[in-house]
Parts: sequence; C-alpha cells; structure tokens
Amino acid sequence: MKIGIAGTGRMGSAIAQRLIDCGHSVTVWNRTLGKAGPLRARGAQVATTAAELTARTETVISILTDAAAIDSVYRSPSGLLSVEVKGRLFIEMSTVRPEAERSLAATIETQGAQMVECPVGGTVGPAREGKLVGLVGADDGALRRAWPLLQQLCRRVEHSGAVGAGATMKLAVNLPLIVFWEAFGEAMALTRPLGLDIAGLVDLFTETSGGTNVLKNRAASVARALTGEDTGPATFDLDSMRKDLRTMLEEARSRGFELPAAASVLAAFDDAAAAGHGGIDGVHIPAYVVKRSGLSLDLSSAPRSPACPPVAPRLGAEPDRTSLRGEPS
Ligand SMILES: NC(=O)c1ccc[n+]([C@@H]2O[C@H](COP(=O)([O-])OP(=O)(O)OC[C@H]3O[C@@H](n4cnc5c(N)ncnc54)[C@H](OP(=O)(O)O)[C@@H]3O)[C@@H](O)[C@H]2O)c1
Repeated sequence: MKIGIAGTGRMGSAIAQRLIDCGHSVTVWNRTLGKAGPLRARGAQVATTAAELTARTETVISILTDAAAIDSVYRSPSGLLSVEVKGRLFIEMSTVRPEAERSLAATIETQGAQMVECPVGGTVGPAREGKLVGLVGADDGALRRAWPLLQQLCRRVEHSGAVGAGATMKLAVNLPLIVFWEAFGEAMALTRPLGLDIAGLVDLFTETSGGTNVLKNRAASVARALTGEDTGPATFDLDSMRKDLRTMLEEARSRGFELPAAASVLAAFDDAAAAGHGGIDGVHIPAYVVKRSGLSLDLSSAPRSPACPPVAPRLGAEPDRTSLRGEPS
C-alpha cells in the first residue's frame, strides 16, 4: 500500500520505519525537510510539500505536536487537503483535544474522504516494533479501512466511539502516566535517607502498588538515571508532558471541572522547564525531583536513617527475603 507520513518527528519517523519494515511503499513529508532525510536512506520517498504527499499516496498518517500543527499541515495553501482527496483515508495520531479531531474529520468528510482518529499509547520503541496501543475514534466504515494498517502498528486497538473519543482516551491515559513520574520522584526523595541500593529499590516498586506499567517497562533506565547515568536520547520529554497536561486542563475546564493533580504537576514541570530541564526524558524526572528536593543522587552521601538501623542476622536463621542492603555478612 502507498502510505504517506506527515510529520517525521520521533514518533512519525518510528512509524514510518515500521511500515517500511512491513513492506509498504512509504513517502514522508516534514515541515523541516532535512529531518526527513534519514528516512530516505532507509527506503522512504520524500515529498517536498504536504499537498504532494497526499497526491502520491492512498492513506496518509499524521502525527504532529499539537492542534496548531494539525491546522497548518492540513489546511494551509499547500497542505494535505489542498489537493483532490476524494476517497482517501487519513489517520490522525497526534495528542490533542477532541474538538481538534472532530473539526478536522468534518472538513475531511466534506471533501469526500474519510478520517480515523488514532492517538497512540507507547513511545518510540513500541512504535518501531508495532506494539503501540491505538485509541480509536471513528465510524465503523472508516475504521474497517484503517484496521489492517493499525494492526501492523499496534498490539491493541481500542475503538472507543466516534471521532473525539480517541483523543479523550489518550488524554485520560496520559494523565496518571505523567503524574506518576513526578510522584515516583517524590517517593524516591522520601526513601533517600535509607541509603538503599537504587536498582533494587526501583525493582521493589515494580512489585508493589506504588509501581506502574511504565516503571516495569523502564525500570533499568530509571535506575540508571537515578544513579546519574546517561540513558540515551529522550523519547517522551518533559516539554511534551507539559503540552499534554495543558491540553488535559483546557479540556477539563471547557467541560466545567478542574484536575488538581495535573495542575500541580504542570506547575512543577513549568518550573523545571524554566530551569532548563524541558528536554529530559520521563525516566530522568525522578532523578530531577530528588535533586530539586535538595538531596544528592550520590548514595555514599546519604545519611542513614536512625529509624531504620541495619538488620542484625539471627544466628542459625535462613534469610526469608532479599534485602536492598544485600545479604547480611
Ligand atoms: N514521543 C512520544 O513518546 C509520544 C507518544 C505518544 C504520542 N505522542 C504524540 O505524538 C505527537 C508527536 O510527538 P513526537 O514525540 O514525535 O514529537 P516531535 O518529535 O517533537 O515531532 C513533532 C512533529 O510535529 C511537527 N510540527 C510541529 N509543529 C508544526 C507546525 N506548526 N507545522 C508543521 N509541522 C509541525 C514537527 O515538524 P518539525 O520537525 O518541522 O518541527 C515534527 O514533525 C504529539 O502530539 C505527541 O504528544 C508522542
């Protein structure tokens, strides 16, 4: 199938690569054309305008920063919708408010094409492996057309209702995910005086109700970040989380209620961004929160808590649990 990708940022590039690997003919377009270059070397064709992308393909996937980007990429004079689109399928995957998706779908349908809204859960690695979670808003006919492609990109596709439902679900899923990174950092700050082994501590959390799926998946990177190590390029960074939090708050306020947890994390992350940390990946947020709390990441400098003295081994007794301090010698 001839597929177009509009937006070759982190996610768009990973999705393009996945579809190339699945044997599709992939053409990409990006506002900053130079960023599409690496995909050419991996087998993609590059369109020079969004209009050309539509003209050269049957189905176009877009995954862009925000509603302003969607507006520009679809509706500008050389945008995706500036050429004949009758009969084409658009799959819109950005994380935005439901109204942005509904408005776009209405425009696309007026021009005789179909749209499926499918924001995704999962980051660059799952996108490369076809293991995203697709949160779909669409009518049944449009979804039937998109289904084979979505199956190649996602390990699970959830049809939540008409266009707008996918965006609502995506904002809902990202709320506890983002709040978790701040909360886990605060939990790490609380445990700091114990001077426990970091990797063991993170691993323990993955087995308690204080852990989450994202911690299970990224425990090793979180532990490395907490010991001050590099973990490679950011995939879902603090600035992207701020954008998502702002979007959630706007959506809730438009519906007449507040999101106090999201609001307070946004305020904390705005401070982090102002201090130059907007580009850090989620796995580094706990380490940032520990340092922000005035604590050191260096275990050797952590004072031992008087409330938690070393456990004296009982003579003759077999240890019945692993210890974050290591086995008694
Ligand atoms: N990163 C993740 O883990 C993740 C996971 C799930 C969903 N998402 C969502 O997926 C979307 C893309 O995320 P990403 O991480 O791939 O972001 P990214 O790497 O920053 O890429 C953003 C893309 O949007 C384009 N763009 C931004 N503003 C534009 C405008 N005004 N006009 C035209 N193009 C514009 C950028 O083009 P330029 O290169 O020219 O700037 C780039 O192609 C976001 O909605 C994000 O919330 C991200």
